[in-house]
Amino acid sequence: MNNFVYDIPTKVYFGENQLKNLGPELKKFGTRVLMTYGGGSIKKIGLYDKVVKEIKDAGLELFELSGIEPNPRIDSVREGARICKEKNIDVLLAVGGGSTIDATKFMAAGAFVEHDPWEFFVSDAPIEKALPIVSILTLSATGSEMDAGGVISNPETQDKYGRLARPLIPAVSFLDPTNTYSVSPYQTACGAADIMSHILEVYFNMDQDLYMLDCFMEGLMKTVIKYTPIAIKDPTNYEARANLMWTSSWAINGFVNGGKNQAWSCHPIEHEVSAIYDITHGLGLAILTPRWMEYCLDETNVSKYVQFGINVFGIDASLPPMDIAKEAIKRLSDFFFNTLQLTSNFTDLNIDETNFEIMAKKSCEDSILEGFKPLNQKDIKKIYEMCL
Ligand code: NZQ
Ligand code: ZN
Repeated sequence: MNNFVYDIPTKVYFGENQLKNLGPELKKFGTRVLMTYGGGSIKKIGLYDKVVKEIKDAGLELFELSGIEPNPRIDSVREGARICKEKNIDVLLAVGGGSTIDATKFMAAGAFVEHDPWEFFVSDAPIEKALPIVSILTLSATGSEMDAGGVISNPETQDKYGRLARPLIPAVSFLDPTNTYSVSPYQTACGAADIMSHILEVYFNMDQDLYMLDCFMEGLMKTVIKYTPIAIKDPTNYEARANLMWTSSWAINGFVNGGKNQAWSCHPIEHEVSAIYDITHGLGLAILTPRWMEYCLDETNVSKYVQFGINVFGIDASLPPMDIAKEAIKRLSDFFFNTLQLTSNFTDLNIDETNFEIMAKKSCEDSILEGFKPLNQKDIKKIYEMCL
């Protein structure tokens, strides 16, 4: 196995009634707070009022930026960076799902540069500094609350790009499962598919690494499979929401990576779909992942599918390896499309083959997507076609 560095600096307040710590945590960074949020769900659930009260009670000065879209747009980032500079903001407080947290990350970095924040994505402009970010998570999915990444869309160019940078890791995150009670069955299911994909992108890797990490990932996946249907049926089930919330963070906070060479496949392939068709990221992943697994399966890598099928889905270990692998893919599809009731194909989303060529070209950056199995443009186009 390879050497690695493990260093996750996010302080997490997990559970109910932790907001009393919000004021003191924000105060550590200064007095001028920019609170960011999406289309209004935090007002509907009463979280907005609670957060504003804590900020006011702590004697902090509050600025706000609302309306951050799902698949957040670069224009929101531009506006946030502008406010940070103009109002001399000390700390950003993102209240919402991954879209709000992601956009806030690049506002925090944009506050320190003179150039357009889109340059972070198209010119790889350095991200050396960012204002401190505090998050209050309301949707279990992306892991943005505890990772260094963010994904931003530009509708003008139909691009959706991700970027990782250490200064973007939230300093503090509040993870209260009750804030996710109002998440719809659809968004709960999409979040589950996203969490599963974050794990599968690392798990499906033929590098030798720690057995312990594979077991940990299998445990995370079993947690998603066990608790998502419960959260959908019984949205205020604390145990289910808590398990999903903590799993979303640990799926992508770097812990499971160990020393494995990291190269993801389904995410770059999906980002091209949501860039053009603005679909929910987790839904795109649910449709693509089983097809990607099917496309990549061969005699050289079947052992990984066997491990997955036996340890995650409890498939009979005495069956021939190829049968176990195919059954594992089927069980994953069943989970996404039957148990979680997610749409199973592109056609039902009015996505046809029109853009597959260009999407495939962009997702591998006109080269090879080095992942579990290297994929070129032709391979990726075939995977898109399998999703129709
Ligand atoms: O905007 P509001 O009104 O808040 O409504 C949102 C939005 O419509 C709603 N919602 C959130 N919390 C809710 C709620 N509705 C009711 N009750 C609540 N408690 O849910 C909708 C979707 O929210 P969004 O933030 O877009 O979802 P998600 O957390 O899945 O974020 C998706 C974005 O994150 C990116 C995706 O590409 C996508 O742009 N990703 C970020 C990653 C990262 N930072 O590491 C990794 C992921 O792989 C992913 O690419
Ligand atoms: Zn994802």
